[in-house]
Amino acid sequence: MKVLVAGGAGFIGSNLTEELLREGHQVVCIDNLSLGNTNNLSALMESPAFIFYEGDICDKNFLAHVFEKEKLDYVFHLAANSDIQASAKNPDVEYRNTYTTTYQILSCMREYGVKKIFFASTSAVYGDKPGELLDENTSRLEPVSYYGAAKLGREALISAFSYMNDLKALIFRFPNVIGPHLTHGVIFDFIKKLKSDPKNLEILGDGNQTKPYIYVEDSVKAILKFMDTDEEKKENVIFYNIGVNTATSVKRIADILCEEMGLANVRYHFTGGTGGWKGDVPRFLYCLDKVHNAGWCAENESDEAVRKTIQIILASKID
Ligand SMILES: NC(=O)c1ccc[n+]([C@@H]2O[C@H](COP(=O)([O-])OP(=O)(O)OC[C@H]3O[C@@H](n4cnc5c(N)ncnc54)[C@H](O)[C@@H]3O)[C@@H](O)[C@H]2O)c1
Repeated sequence: MKVLVAGGAGFIGSNLTEELLREGHQVVCIDNLSLGNTNNLSALMESPAFIFYEGDICDKNFLAHVFEKEKLDYVFHLAANSDIQASAKNPDVEYRNTYTTTYQILSCMREYGVKKIFFASTSAVYGDKPGELLDENTSRLEPVSYYGAAKLGREALISAFSYMNDLKALIFRFPNVIGPHLTHGVIFDFIKKLKSDPKNLEILGDGNQTKPYIYVEDSVKAILKFMDTDEEKKENVIFYNIGVNTATSVKRIADILCEEMGLANVRYHFTGGTGGWKGDVPRFLYCLDKVHNAGWCAENESDEAVRKTIQIILASKID
């Protein structure tokens, strides 16, 4: 198949691109490099089955040119703002890079007759629901971050475009995905802080914010496993919560990091409160029954994903 990976120079997109090429697909990537980096794709650039376009998906003419030229069979849509803390300061970025990219991609799919899309959504669409088991049928979706709101809006667009144009859509609601090519988040913040002061570490909130961290390799395997299973299903849009059964607290991340950096007796300073920042969901209960019953399960536990990611970042000497 000839597939488009929108946001292909980013963290998940570059890992997915690598696997799609390995499986024999032809891959067209688009990225405006606002958060992604072509270094993530450097090993693939020479492949005759790979082509990279640098450009903005919100630019309709540019996107239409790529669709016209490349004659695509499938779209993997991973382009978005992925830095939730950044958009808490400026929600415009969500409207543009998270919401509008989706509208433009769906419009081009409609115009050029592309019938299949994978979309990377998020657990943030559920909002802050302490103690509630969140499954795909949870009907009160009340995001508390601009990011979660833009993602929920995108799910709605996908639903309508799928119904109106007979598209098949696969939507994964990921929790925190980590692994090689990761660029930001709590692990990076802690590394930066500890490099500047190896004796003290400021931790936002009370350190008990506890979330499932899924290793990117597991996420990519899930995408590849389900990318074509919609053939047998009647629904136009299929949702899955994707994640791990275990979770890791922020304090535990700090402990693992100190171990891996060989630091002892680091004093933790908690800023207090239950959440890290406004719009953060400090803990949630994620129901994974649907995806487990469909035959997929993550291979790496949450703590294991955290440790592997820390080791990769430390070995790569990224600041
Ligand atoms: N990483 C996670 O924990 C996580 C969790 C849930 C959902 N997701 C979703 O998965 C997708 C990929 O996430 P990621 O962590 O790899 O993020 P990322 O920032 O590494 O990748 C997103 C890519 O999209 C590109 N992009 C953004 N706006 C664009 C535009 N207007 N035109 C062209 N390219 C544009 C960025 O440059 C970046 O390379 C995103 O949609 C994200 O919201 C990620």
